[in-house]
Amino acid sequence: MTGASSGIGAAFARRLARQGFALILVARRLEHLERLARELGGAESLAADLTLEPDLARVEARIASAPDLELLVNNAGFGTKGRFWETPLDAQERMHRLHVMATLRLTRAALAAMVPRGRGGVINVSSVAGFGQSPGNVSYCATKAWMTSFTEGLDLELRGAGSPVRVQALCPGFTVSGFHDTMGMSRERIPAWLWMRAEDVVDQSLRGLEQGKPLVVPGAIYKMVVTLEKLAPRWLRSAAVMRATRKRRDPAS
Ligand SMILES: NC(=O)c1ccc[n+]([C@@H]2O[C@H](COP(=O)([O-])OP(=O)(O)OC[C@H]3O[C@@H](n4cnc5c(N)ncnc54)[C@H](OP(=O)(O)O)[C@@H]3O)[C@@H](O)[C@H]2O)c1
Repeated sequence: MTGASSGIGAAFARRLARQGFALILVARRLEHLERLARELGGAESLAADLTLEPDLARVEARIASAPDLELLVNNAGFGTKGRFWETPLDAQERMHRLHVMATLRLTRAALAAMVPRGRGGVINVSSVAGFGQSPGNVSYCATKAWMTSFTEGLDLELRGAGSPVRVQALCPGFTVSGFHDTMGMSRERIPAWLWMRAEDVVDQSLRGLEQGKPLVVPGAIYKMVVTLEKLAPRWLRSAAVMRATRKRRDPAS
């Protein structure tokens, strides 16, 4: 479980611990992981910054040394604010390393044992943001689109190979967690009815995994948003995004 120190990852950890899973909790903030491990009555805490090669290799090796791994949840992630060419390149690079390279490497390490064993699953926590584009969020949308496409592609490959191993792209909308605090974004700006609880996101994900769903979009409102994104022509989607962007810049418009 990556990104277990807060939010959706911590909610996954609590739910999976109740189901009897022995957990390996991964994130940078060791003290948060150890506190959660104590709360859960025991879990392995592995402090790692997954944007750094030696740390990523260490987590990869830990997965390889756990041949009975039942479930990998690639959940660690973060957002940034601001135009692509104005925000620090370093943050954009770290985002690509975390959302893309860490997901790729850890999924590969897990499937290498799961597929021959004929059992296991991987949940990649993507986002509804991956179904579209939005100014100020370019790298986030692009990396989440990659995560969703990668996972859906793997699902086809696994099914095509007759493997019972399941993969899922979990695509939440606004969820109460540390995500927006880390970004420095106030939750007040988003209408209350759009917020989901991390526990409900996790419920829908695990139910979807049991049902073999490769794509889970929690919440009726976000299912509708994704359906509209898929059906609407490109010009209409672009016009809607540009209108919303102008409105954010100039609320009187
Ligand atoms: N909240 C939302 O509205 C929302 C919506 C759609 C998708 N998501 C996705 O949900 C996932 C979980 O986010 P959240 O909402 O639960 O936010 P969160 O509470 O901020 O949790 C993010 C987690 O990722 C970990 N993390 C960040 N950078 C890391 C790094 N370099 N190496 C290792 N771990 C790292 C953080 O731990 P440390 O800081 O301790 O490393 C933390 O545990 C993310 O992938 C996010 O993109 C969130």
